[in-house]
Amino acid sequence: MSNPILVTGSAGFIGFHLCQRLLSDGFDVIGLDAMTDYYDVTLKKRRHALLETHERFTPIVERLETPGTLEDLFATHKPAMVVHLAAQAGVRYSIDAPRSYVESNISGTFELLEAARNHTPKHLLIASTSSVYGANTEMPYREIHKVDTQMSFYAATKKATEAMAQTYAHLYEIPTTMFRFFTVYGPWGRPDMALFKFTDAIQNNRAIDVYNHGDMLRDFTYVTDLVDAVRRLMDAIPGKTPVSDADNLSPIAPWRAVNIGNGSPTKLTDFIEALEEVLGKAAQKNMLDIQPGDMPATWADASLLNDLIGPVNKTDLKDGVANFVNWYNAEYS
Ligand SMILES: NC(=O)c1ccc[n+]([C@@H]2O[C@H](COP(=O)([O-])OP(=O)(O)OC[C@H]3O[C@@H](n4cnc5c(N)ncnc54)[C@H](O)[C@@H]3O)[C@@H](O)[C@H]2O)c1
Repeated sequence: MSNPILVTGSAGFIGFHLCQRLLSDGFDVIGLDAMTDYYDVTLKKRRHALLETHERFTPIVERLETPGTLEDLFATHKPAMVVHLAAQAGVRYSIDAPRSYVESNISGTFELLEAARNHTPKHLLIASTSSVYGANTEMPYREIHKVDTQMSFYAATKKATEAMAQTYAHLYEIPTTMFRFFTVYGPWGRPDMALFKFTDAIQNNRAIDVYNHGDMLRDFTYVTDLVDAVRRLMDAIPGKTPVSDADNLSPIAPWRAVNIGNGSPTKLTDFIEALEEVLGKAAQKNMLDIQPGDMPATWADASLLNDLIGPVNKTDLKDGVANFVNWYNAEYS
């Protein structure tokens, strides 16, 4: 039996889809998730229950930062690769509960890096976010741009994990890839994200909150397109040489950050229109100012991703929204 892949955050939205993909590709998968109550725990349990129908899936329900958890897990299972997705996500909640971001994102990632230092995997892959580009105005965002102006504490903790991982990659030769994900959507999506909230409100005749009066751009990325990119990046292990001028490979470590985004941003108002069309129903809208911490626009330059793994599928927004609505209706009807 080959060594398993460890996926942290396996009961989360992206982790669930990634585990499904890895299991169908024939890997043994260990999924660690604490089932935090940031959003509906039932949804997380339902995702894990589906994964548990695969005999090659081993669930572990624990917090990253519980002393000894990751060290014991690495010592026992010796994961070949690690995809670290567990985190306290969400821009707005980081205003209300910043400490939970320190605990999961800083302390949790530190424990993971320590375990990786003692039991080096072939490749460590860690979720960061497009939010690290913060107040940058040069678009599309490129990995070689400076990322020094985060606008939310969530983004600041993710920038910190990028820095922590770069240093561990340098000191202990741990090949590391950071993903900068751009607004991921699709079936099994997060209840705190716009598509879920809008669908739920429109179906139940409630008004939706439209921030910055709809003048926002988001580079919506369909979850299985993103998971396919993650799967292929697992084989793109950073070495000593940049792959192209777009590469931000560290000069002192086998470490790089890669945008995973569609590369074609959509206006929030167009996104809402696509959803209204799929639902066959108009939304009632509360037009509101931008919220503290929010970025008015995100837009990925995906050329480094292309240089590393070649072209990635781009699901049409309307198809992706329809897939989400079909799942939502089946799940919540
Ligand atoms: N969904 C997006 O649009 C998006 C965009 C940018 C970055 N990301 C990043 O991608 C990753 C996955 O995001 P997601 O959308 O699947 O979020 P999610 O909240 O659905 O999944 C994260 C999972 O991590 C678990 N978790 C949180 N803290 C933990 C801890 N201390 N120990 C163990 N488990 C813990 C949660 O229970 C949850 O199931 C996160 O790192 C997130 O910051 C997501």
